[in-house]
Amino acid sequence: MARAETAFVCQSCGAVHLKWSGRCGDCGAWNTLVEEAAAPPLGANAAPRRKTRAGRMALSELSDGTPEPPRRVSGLAEFDRVCGGGLAPASAVLVGGDPGIGKSTLLLQAAAKLAADGAKTIYVSGEESADQVRRRARRLGLAEAPVMLAAETALEPILDTLKAEKPDLVIIDSIQTMWTEALAAAPGTVAQVRACAQDLVRFAKKSGTVVILVGHVTKDGQIAGPRVVEHMVDAVLYFEGERGHQFRILRAVKNRFGPTDEIGVFEMGDSGLAEVSNPSALFLDSRGADAPGTAVFAGMEGTRPVLCEVQALVAPAAFGTPRRAVVGWDSGRLAMVLAVLEARCGLGFGGRDVYLNVAGGLKIAEPAADVAMAAALISAALDAPLPADAVAFGEISLSGDVRPVGRSEARLKEAAKLGFKQALAPAAAAAGAGLAVTGLGSALDLVRHVESLAGQA
Ligand code: TYD
Ligand code: MG
Repeated sequence: MARAETAFVCQSCGAVHLKWSGRCGDCGAWNTLVEEAAAPPLGANAAPRRKTRAGRMALSELSDGTPEPPRRVSGLAEFDRVCGGGLAPASAVLVGGDPGIGKSTLLLQAAAKLAADGAKTIYVSGEESADQVRRRARRLGLAEAPVMLAAETALEPILDTLKAEKPDLVIIDSIQTMWTEALAAAPGTVAQVRACAQDLVRFAKKSGTVVILVGHVTKDGQIAGPRVVEHMVDAVLYFEGERGHQFRILRAVKNRFGPTDEIGVFEMGDSGLAEVSNPSALFLDSRGADAPGTAVFAGMEGTRPVLCEVQALVAPAAFGTPRRAVVGWDSGRLAMVLAVLEARCGLGFGGRDVYLNVAGGLKIAEPAADVAMAAALISAALDAPLPADAVAFGEISLSGDVRPVGRSEARLKEAAKLGFKQALAPAAAAAGAGLAVTGLGSALDLVRHVESLAGQA
């Protein structure tokens, strides 16, 4: 029976408060408290408790000798890799991303592949009518796929149907549209999202079905509503990309059944998402002749080397405080590299605007990008183009040293494969893969190197 009490739940972090206030005392977010019917007791200290079951737990051995059940492999290699080699049975996966980024398209394509492979698949849409989903499938050339559709937002009929049909795979698009009649709160609130996710995850564990939940992401990049859902599921995948670009990147941020640093790269086209098995070629696609301010970073995304172009522009500041703008990289890291170039190499950026852009909408988080970013900045500042056949990587410390980074061999190999001839790399990186490596001990070496190129030009 629903209790009459209500509580104020932060829609950002899920914290429960007894009184309303403008700011959540737990996470500090403003205007996020919403009055909701108190959630049913979850923890041990929740009162009043239901009558406990008497008796003891059933214990089992850690090694029961059963082999690991086979994964469900969709055949979309980029998707399977991010899942850790296919979907594990009885697992719950959350796929998050901005609205309109392509989550429904990706999952419909994966569902169609799995269904065609013999997996019983149900696609529950809470946002579109069955007709709209059907039309999308037709446009994607998947009209013949044996996927069963339903347009439903009420949790109880969904669970009843799933229990009767016993599918291998269920897609719930999206978890924010689902609601259970057990709670009085509106769909999309923390309480509803949490309760629905909990029941669906429990169903996955009990039945062996793979349950994929779609979740929308808020402006500040979190899956709307509760982080709690992230804790409940086995894997959290983010689907991201820039709206103006066709590239979409699927990234695992949590995975109980695989690595979390793998990415899958897709390209959105007229007939849906196409896999990009060689992302380097894509991110370097439209490179022109050697212009000052561009450098190629030999990066790693998970186990895969990915090359991409970084562009810098240094211009006289019109007035006031000079601007520092960066797309695709951390602005704090940019400030650090600029400070090192100023303090350790005497290269002044004061009174000048600095812009830095990672081409193709890629977001770089590796510290190994420092040298490539610095090379682009120095090249822009000195108006000296870097050789078009050079890649760069390495970490720069505050003392100005260039530090070695992991997987140099894989980076150099990928660069050689794409026709690059030279590399600017930490001194410790051995020459390999047929590339001429310019070993850098410090940021000052890099500045001298670019200066010498300017001298030759
Ligand atoms: P969608 O999968 O509906 O996004 P989400 O579920 O994440 O909200 O994708 C919608 C966008 O994708 C829409 O802007 C149109 C674009 N799109 C294409 O460019 N080509 C296609 O074949 C399809 C199906 C969608
Ligand atoms: Mg959608």
